[in-house]
Amino acid sequence: MTLLILGGTGTLGRQIVRKALENGFQVRCIVRNKRAANFLKEWGAELVYGDLTLPETLPPSFQGVTAIIDASTTKTTDDNDVLDVDWYGKLIIIELSQYAQIKRFIFLSILNSEKYPYITLMQIKYRIEKLIKSSGIPFTIFKYAGFFQTLINEYAIPILEKKPIFITLESPPISYIDTQDAAFFCIKSLSIKETQNKTFATGSAQAWKSEEIIELCEKLAGQKAQTLTVPVIFFKKLRQITGFFEWSLQVSERLAFVEVINNSSNFTSSINYTYSILDINPKEILDLDFFFQKYFEIILNTLEKINKTKTSII
Ligand SMILES: NC(=O)c1ccc[n+]([C@@H]2O[C@H](COP(=O)([O-])OP(=O)(O)OC[C@H]3O[C@@H](n4cnc5c(N)ncnc54)[C@H](OP(=O)(O)O)[C@@H]3O)[C@@H](O)[C@H]2O)c1
Repeated sequence: MTLLILGGTGTLGRQIVRKALENGFQVRCIVRNKRAANFLKEWGAELVYGDLTLPETLPPSFQGVTAIIDASTTKTTDDNDVLDVDWYGKLIIIELSQYAQIKRFIFLSILNSEKYPYITLMQIKYRIEKLIKSSGIPFTIFKYAGFFQTLINEYAIPILEKKPIFITLESPPISYIDTQDAAFFCIKSLSIKETQNKTFATGSAQAWKSEEIIELCEKLAGQKAQTLTVPVIFFKKLRQITGFFEWSLQVSERLAFVEVINNSSNFTSSINYTYSILDINPKEILDLDFFFQKYFEIILNTLEKINKTKTSII
């Protein structure tokens, strides 16, 4: 089975590529920069040049493809408009998938995307979900609130660099997931018929509040965080302003999550459903505290070594 992966160089995408290769799939990746994506080739994937903003570059990748996993999204560091990548680019991918009679289209979306039509990326994600569902292509959609890896930038690094962390007054628990586990869910779904034409909320078994994540990081870093607590309404107002600007995608996305987090009451039961259909034991899934324990062990050891080297040079 040839699996076509979009976004294979990304945070989640690279784990999907690795998991797919480990499971014996032939993996083809659409990449914008073959040199930067060379690590995927070294792992055993085939690289084909393609750019979602350049439609003419996409058709050659679809030859002989059985299933597609789309882990691509607009990069906050790019000049590209979110509409060009996440909307027009995806329309072409759906059309090409129909033409190539793809047997499964796995699309990755954002939790509660349907509830935020006024946030561009959420609206686009939701509309693409609807298009995939009505396309006739067998599909599976996974929806996330966030990845463990993104929490490093949000919490761990500001604590280590003694920079402020903004949190909201109302901070209900949220279930993040490690990208290796998210990749495991995607690849496993390909071999389970019941996952076809279904949408899954995806997270780890335990949900965490912002304060709890900060407390954990403080304990592991041995440093106090500078926390600034603001009401959700402040973020909502800020989003209304930042939402106008392309460059603020990351901010808008982050703010969207603040609201998403505040609306996740049914999340636990949705996650239990995901685990049962995919036949996953929650104990197999990485916990956030273990993830951060390993992260801080590595970072603090590295910092200690650097400091020792500096001292010996002086
Ligand atoms: N991060 C989160 O917390 C989060 C939460 C909920 C849902 N999600 C969803 O999960 C999926 C994976 O997210 P991620 O955080 O892993 O993404 P990411 O790290 O930002 O990676 C984005 C990927 O898309 C590729 N890409 C961007 N523009 C492209 C273009 N014009 N043509 C072809 N490829 C292009 C990038 O390739 P290059 O290497 O060439 O830049 C990269 O491989 C996305 O669908 C995202 O919306 C993420």
